[in-house]
Amino acid sequence: MPVQLRDGIYWVGAIDWNLRDFHGYITGRGATYNSYLIIDEKVTLIDAVKAPFLGEMLDRIRLIIDPEKIDYLICNHIEKDHSGSLPEFHRLFPNVKIFATQMAKPGLQKYFGDLPLEIVKTGDSLNLGRRSLQFIETPMVHWPDSMFSYLPGDKILFSMDGFGQHIATSERFDDEVDMHDVMYEARKYYANLLMHLSPLIQNTLKKVAELKLEIDMIAPSHGIIWRKDPGRIIKAYDQWSRYEAGNKISVVYDTMWQSTEKMAKTLAEFFMSKGIEVKLMKLRQWHRSDIMAEIIDSKAVCIGSPTLHRNMFPTVADLLCYMKGLKSQKKVGAAFGSYGWSGEAMQLVSDDLKAIGLDVIEPGVRAQYLPGAEDTAQIIALAENIIEKIKA
Ligand code: FEO
Repeated sequence: MPVQLRDGIYWVGAIDWNLRDFHGYITGRGATYNSYLIIDEKVTLIDAVKAPFLGEMLDRIRLIIDPEKIDYLICNHIEKDHSGSLPEFHRLFPNVKIFATQMAKPGLQKYFGDLPLEIVKTGDSLNLGRRSLQFIETPMVHWPDSMFSYLPGDKILFSMDGFGQHIATSERFDDEVDMHDVMYEARKYYANLLMHLSPLIQNTLKKVAELKLEIDMIAPSHGIIWRKDPGRIIKAYDQWSRYEAGNKISVVYDTMWQSTEKMAKTLAEFFMSKGIEVKLMKLRQWHRSDIMAEIIDSKAVCIGSPTLHRNMFPTVADLLCYMKGLKSQKKVGAAFGSYGWSGEAMQLVSDDLKAIGLDVIEPGVRAQYLPGAEDTAQIIALAENIIEKIKA
């Protein structure tokens, strides 16, 4: 069923209940691809859906209007979870004009060939009849083509990926669902897709504030629509893009013969004994995208790796490679790990944490074969140093 946002404005998207992997990001709660239909003198669809879900979207639209009557399609973002159905949509409805940014044009052409594209930019508005739709380019939030669309009279911001969450629900609005789950998924989404763009997100938030848009509702392209409290997700984006976090500490490790694990547990137990929230995550049991949801919310990140073949453990390298792309700031970092004879891993991890942007405490701690009393004392000293830094 379509869901009404306002008189004449409907959610007509698709629910991907069984999605568990979104280009490498684990989506344990599924996802939605939100499209919105505006019934006016010009019938307008905001965003399409992933290719296999075109039929689901059209079935929803048919419960409101014949899709043949659609005049305009706004392509806020060309990533294929929103544009993948465009070729078939265009084949079915060749007269629909598609509106997108100049930066969207090369991507759409490469993906799909020529489409009836009209270019819009910040400040442009499109007259729909009783309403006008305004456009705000948001380049690199999170692709070059990205833009917001805004309905002034209805005070709705269609924010494409921004403010989204990967969560499949039968409900559509923030006042209908468990917000603990939604805020977790919004945080995970930000940590995995947007964290490296934090300075640009700060600029986008400022741009929206300068435009003095009155926003009563934020309708993103994924997940729950913010109608009860859109300010809640704007405030969260402001905090995340300033790299603000609570006093939690993430301890992430992998282990071969439980020596690095013993060090990780010593760290975690010590933090807990001081009343500090800890997440202890073994890499072969935790997916990197779930770990990022904890790291973004942590003041310190401790990474443990055994030395294997004169290198760090492969699962640790995988996480650090991912984190180097996503970057971070204003967090304390520390490395630890066990080794047999060469022992390179601890310093390699330390160097990567610095490259990510963390304030790394050096040296870390490395223990030969099995951590003994002296190694445990070094681990406790490192933990005390971390606590001192995060409380400073
Ligand atoms: Fe939901 Fe960047 O696509």
